[in-house]
Amino acid sequence: MGISVQKLMQYKPQGKSIVALTAWDYTSAAIVDQAGVDLILVGDSMATAVLGHESTLPLTLDEIIHHARAVKRGSQRALLICDLPFLTYQESVGQAIASAGRVLKEAGMQGVKIEGGHPEMVETVRRLVNVGIPVMGHIGLTPQSIHQLGLRQQGKAEDEQDVLIEQAIALQQAGAFSIVLEHIPTDLARQISQKLTIPTIGIGAGPDCDGQILVTADLWGLTDRQPPFAKVYVNLREQALTGTQAFCTDVQTGQFNPNS
Ligand code: KIV
Repeated sequence: MGISVQKLMQYKPQGKSIVALTAWDYTSAAIVDQAGVDLILVGDSMATAVLGHESTLPLTLDEIIHHARAVKRGSQRALLICDLPFLTYQESVGQAIASAGRVLKEAGMQGVKIEGGHPEMVETVRRLVNVGIPVMGHIGLTPQSIHQLGLRQQGKAEDEQDVLIEQAIALQQAGAFSIVLEHIPTDLARQISQKLTIPTIGIGAGPDCDGQILVTADLWGLTDRQPPFAKVYVNLREQALTGTQAFCTDVQTGQFNPNS
């Protein structure tokens, strides 16, 4: 039996940490699911980490649905949440419902993640939840706002901290089932986690969130553009390069034998 939103929300009162990772295709999903993660995010970070774009902005809804369908085929247990790409939900509540609906109907996802905690976005969360679509919030560093906020840590100044706390509470009141806190100070993430009854999932937000998420391409050391808070657990890029160079050499020197 796979993990539902309701089951995931029981972790916090039980004192259990949520383990979350991203996936972008059948193989990455099968590996992280088999490893035991609780939540797989089909993250729009695939735009940079997998598709080679400079930011997450170019990713389209059709593209993320294509990848989400493969992730669905590769996973059996984890809760499946999909990012709504830039400008597929900010225009109006109707646009957000239509985009989220496609992600659930066409890719079999169990919920969506959207960035931002300002009043219009809080209203969008409320309306999505009202039509039965689980929503994960995302505040702090929000990569879809790269041209407005850059990629720097958020919530350093006291007034910024107050705003982020207010946004987290408003998202919870609107019905979000969890909130990603990205690249904010550890103390602030701890405060927000303590104030909320829904779980916080941190990335670059210190150890005191209710769960942690990493971009799997970073965890696997696959990319050459990791953020400062990424943690590499295995350097697959180096291993893949070494193995591929060995194959090139074998073929070039006439030593390649598929039967040996
Ligand atoms: O797209 C993504 O991978 C994300 C994580 C950084 C949380 O939003």
